[in-house]
Amino acid sequence: MTECFYERGLMMSSSTIGIFGGGQLGRMLALAARVMGYRSVSLDPGEDCPGSQVTDVHVVAAYDDLGAAEELAERSDFVTYEFENVDAAAIERIAELKPVFPSPSVLRVCQDREIEKTLMREMGIGVPEFRVVRSVEEAKSAVEAIGVPVVMKTTRWGYDGKGQSVVRDAGDAGLAFEGLGGSDDAPVIVEGFVDFAMEVSVVCARDMAGEMRTFPVSENVHVGGILDTSIVPARCSDEVKAEAERVAMRIAEGLDVRGLIAVEMFVTREGEVLVNELAPRPHNSGHYTIEGCVTSQFEQLARIMVGMPMGDVSLRSPTVMVNLLGDVWEAADGSPDWGAVLGMAGAHLHLYGKSGWRVGRKMGHITVCGETVEEALRVARAAREAAMGR
Ligand SMILES: Nc1ncnc2c1ncn2[C@@H]1O[C@H](COP(=O)(O)OP(=O)(O)O)[C@@H](O)[C@H]1O
Ligand SMILES: [Mg+2]
Repeated sequence: MTECFYERGLMMSSSTIGIFGGGQLGRMLALAARVMGYRSVSLDPGEDCPGSQVTDVHVVAAYDDLGAAEELAERSDFVTYEFENVDAAAIERIAELKPVFPSPSVLRVCQDREIEKTLMREMGIGVPEFRVVRSVEEAKSAVEAIGVPVVMKTTRWGYDGKGQSVVRDAGDAGLAFEGLGGSDDAPVIVEGFVDFAMEVSVVCARDMAGEMRTFPVSENVHVGGILDTSIVPARCSDEVKAEAERVAMRIAEGLDVRGLIAVEMFVTREGEVLVNELAPRPHNSGHYTIEGCVTSQFEQLARIMVGMPMGDVSLRSPTVMVNLLGDVWEAADGSPDWGAVLGMAGAHLHLYGKSGWRVGRKMGHITVCGETVEEALRVARAAREAAMGR
């Protein structure tokens, strides 16, 4: 009896991972942590958010509620955040109490496209031509200097293509700046439009000792600014892949990342790699690692946080992930045919447990591992079509 009680006590003293945010990334992290016997706590304003359905304890609170942030820290041994558009003050408060992965200084860089791109440029890392503007006049002269087409983006709070507009006619520069709410306090970044051959990303894991492992390069297809498909191995040359990995590792090292950093990049038609943006967390383009790699991006983050050795990041087989946006629900009159998806050999269905669908909302994804990347791509696309009843 005593022995049994002792064992249970041991189990309960295992580390607890705190997750700021309760979306699908937090949910998948909590699932990976639980497999290894760790506990998790989440914080999110949503009572029944995707993360809360999986974590041991869920704190319902606004992201800027410092008292709640302290509670999350108190209930955790180590803390991470699952999105970068958070009030930095809350994360800084948590970091005073418990180790945060990656540190608030990394978060500060990734929260602001001006700081992020300026730092890349200072590090000698290729980025699209850009200028940061704070008035209509500055916007006009930046568009003149860079030359249309350009992409204008808010420097903060953008995600899934939100807070962006493509300007094809220089005469629209002022309108676009105003449309994005640009002002002296709300700067806008004007970027040259990259006529890329492909988009790729690399999730780089870096542990407390500074050891790094990069997950295989993913080729990403975006539709309407939102990730649609990830294809691994990316269908580019080995040189481009090696360069993408090298860039990701330079950034992870340069920012002194402890945890994960995802680097989104453009590959130009000349084979040059340009950094688009950074995310200091697991990434949608890394969901393929759950079935595709020996260790998933979520398990890797959990291992790093609790101070365990990093896992093998090798690809098991060619893998393709397709996102399931609310659009799938719309096409299927509200009830997608999951039976048709699960009836397809090799299709793995992930649904995030979100209560309501909306066009453009990330609701889940399908991953397919195949003998070849072409086969995996064909099956993954067919599975999504099948969900829509096509
Ligand atoms: N300078 C650019 N040139 C060409 N396409 C771009 C550029 N910037 C963004 N895009 C397209 O828009 C997508 C979303 O932009 P991104 O900067 O990654 O913002 P978000 O934070 O919304 O993901 C990119 O993945 C890419 O497809
Ligand atoms: Mg992006």
